[in-house]
Amino acid sequence: MTTTAPRPSRTDARGNGAPRRGRLRTWLSAGGAAVAVGYLARRRTRPESAVEADGVKVVVPRRPHGGAWGAVRSGARARAAIAARTLRVDRWWVQPAITFAVLIAFVGYSSFRAFQAAHYFSEPYISPFYSPCLTTACEGNTFPKLWTGPAWISPAIYILIFPLGFRLTCYYYRKAYYRSFWLSPPACAVAEPHRRYTGETRLPLVGQNLHRYFWYFAIIFNGILTYDAVLAFRDRNGHWGHMGLGTLVLVANAVLLWLYSLSCHSCRHIVGGRLNSFSRHPLRYRFWGFVSKLNGRHMQLAWVSLFGVALTDLYVYLLALGVFTDPRFF
Ligand code: FES
Repeated sequence: MTTTAPRPSRTDARGNGAPRRGRLRTWLSAGGAAVAVGYLARRRTRPESAVEADGVKVVVPRRPHGGAWGAVRSGARARAAIAARTLRVDRWWVQPAITFAVLIAFVGYSSFRAFQAAHYFSEPYISPFYSPCLTTACEGNTFPKLWTGPAWISPAIYILIFPLGFRLTCYYYRKAYYRSFWLSPPACAVAEPHRRYTGETRLPLVGQNLHRYFWYFAIIFNGILTYDAVLAFRDRNGHWGHMGLGTLVLVANAVLLWLYSLSCHSCRHIVGGRLNSFSRHPLRYRFWGFVSKLNGRHMQLAWVSLFGVALTDLYVYLLALGVFTDPRFF
């Protein structure tokens, strides 16, 4: 990227550039206002027309009049206002319906497990929903116990906001749940039921801008879950150099979470944004290229890592319940 120094302003023969530009702007403004008023006045006199085609009512917009101004003069048409909700004939609703069902299933399962406050540790494995486990009530010894919380508060509740906030504000998940839960819009070329659109400019959606800060916390959590995966190379007596199927499960979960976090749009901006010249920052450029490649798979990584967290918890849950024993490799 390069920057360009501002050009010196043009002046007239007497060197009075600013007054001359000021007069020109005044004339242009007055002329533009007159054309706009005339155009609007004529639009009011020409009603819209509606046609029926194949049972779909299409409201044909007023044709713009020829004039001496930009798009109107070039004959460009405004978008047709279509009375039907959509003209799509494919099963556009399948994808938002599946997204809705999967997200509801995940929210239901993770809420049940987070509030259960039991069966989240089976030596040497700890569920990702409970890591880092910070209170003296925690099972296992995977993280320093920092305080004694009320017994009725599950240890998972103290840390829930960080992974939850990270996923909720993720650019991909926003698209997914805006479409599947709020139907805003449910799919491309399908009208949304809401009358107004305010974007992410006011509460609560303005909070989506916190995503980059949640990313920093996500990196810390990834480090902790990687540490949990390292601890999984012990046996039930705490001796190092052992491995079971659970070790693989925890390692895979940590890897997927790293890939998901590093493919984040905010991460891409953090490593490669706000630079005027990549050539002066070769290391950041290489990292930016790596993150950009991952970023192209962000949607897939978002889903796979979500399943990874749930399945890792399920694995530890079933071990802790005694449903089966962990197959040991060595
Ligand atoms: Fe999805 Fe950042 S955009 S995690």
